[in-house]
Amino acid sequence: MTEHSAPASGTTDVVLEADGLTKHFPLRGRGRELLTRGTRAVHAVDDVSLALREGRVTALVGESGSGKSTVARLLAQLYPRTSGEIRLRGEATSVKGGRAFRGYSKRVQMIFQDPFASLNPVHTVRYHLTRALKIHGNAGTTAREQEAALADLLTRVQLTPPERYVDKFPHELSGGQRQRVAIARALGADPEVLLADEPVSMLDVSIRLGVLNLLRDLKERLHLAILYITHDIASARYFADETCVMYAGRVVEGGDSETVTQNPAHPYTQLLIDSAPDPDRPAVESKDGGSGEPPSLIDPPSGCRFNPRCPFAMDVCREKVPPRFDVGDQPGHFAACWLFDAEVSGR
Ligand SMILES: Nc1ncnc2c1ncn2[C@@H]1O[C@H](COP(=O)(O)OP(=O)(O)OP(=O)(O)O)[C@@H](O)[C@H]1O
Ligand code: SF4
Ligand SMILES: [Mg+2]
Repeated sequence: MTEHSAPASGTTDVVLEADGLTKHFPLRGRGRELLTRGTRAVHAVDDVSLALREGRVTALVGESGSGKSTVARLLAQLYPRTSGEIRLRGEATSVKGGRAFRGYSKRVQMIFQDPFASLNPVHTVRYHLTRALKIHGNAGTTAREQEAALADLLTRVQLTPPERYVDKFPHELSGGQRQRVAIARALGADPEVLLADEPVSMLDVSIRLGVLNLLRDLKERLHLAILYITHDIASARYFADETCVMYAGRVVEGGDSETVTQNPAHPYTQLLIDSAPDPDRPAVESKDGGSGEPPSLIDPPSGCRFNPRCPFAMDVCREKVPPRFDVGDQPGHFAACWLFDAEVSGR
């Protein structure tokens, strides 16, 4: 087995790329801690590399607190990063606000989990969408052009006929309709990338599929590169072309969604899948009986962060961080696990 390299820069269909992305949130010391030397920090994201491609959905899957939203916020340049690089169409970017941020956010838009919180309750759909169109210079020059752009946005998210929705307030819409307005607002920028942070997890189960299908349709028609963040690995199989699995701030496995979800290589992904309901798969007892807690990110375990929960942990797992190894079943399928190192496993 060979070590899997970070995604290649300059690959034509790669739109947005993270390379070695790291975010540590410093902790403010209290009492005696203030007197101790060194800054303690939450190691929220460590050495994360991933690539978002044109017309493809990449899922970022992991349990609560694994660092998914932090990755999205770093990619949206809403936080400064501790280290690592973000490349947009192969060009290294670092944006700290002002005009540069506006230019970046025109190309990279984010959709949040709670559409009710992300829309202002005192403003109508028209206000939200017109503002987005104007900020990003897509409102046209006449009232007629602006009205046409508004109608076009609402039609794109299947809120038709547009005149039924354009003057509604957020509370007059259903959760699914509100999320469609939030998506339309993001499309007002005419972006290349959508970062969707759990876009359906607060919606009624019955309408989730409709919103996911809408995102898939937009990916195909507008060739958007989409990051789809979710707890639900079963929905990644259905909706995403590629899937990356995060555990305690690190990416532990990645590859095409079918392979990662049907033939998971990393022991953590196996645990995640064993504990996720999937009607296509017989129930399997999870390997650690479903027990175990994610580790502290203030003082994470040395070596592989999954080692305290892993039934296969070896000495090397406690000593050295596993790099990405090719699993060898499908091109691009990798696992950051010593089991896939030929020397360690003796394969
Ligand atoms: N602004 C912040 N300051 C300090 N710690 C933070 C901050 N934001 C996130 N964290 C911590 O970083 C870790 C990762 O958080 P993050 O929100 O990225 O996880 P997540 O995978 O999105 O979780 P969830 O599925 O619950 O949304 C958590 O331990 C969290 O407490
Ligand atoms: S590196 Fe070791 S501890 Fe980590 S998942 Fe693989 S076998 Fe388990
Ligand atoms: Mg989150």
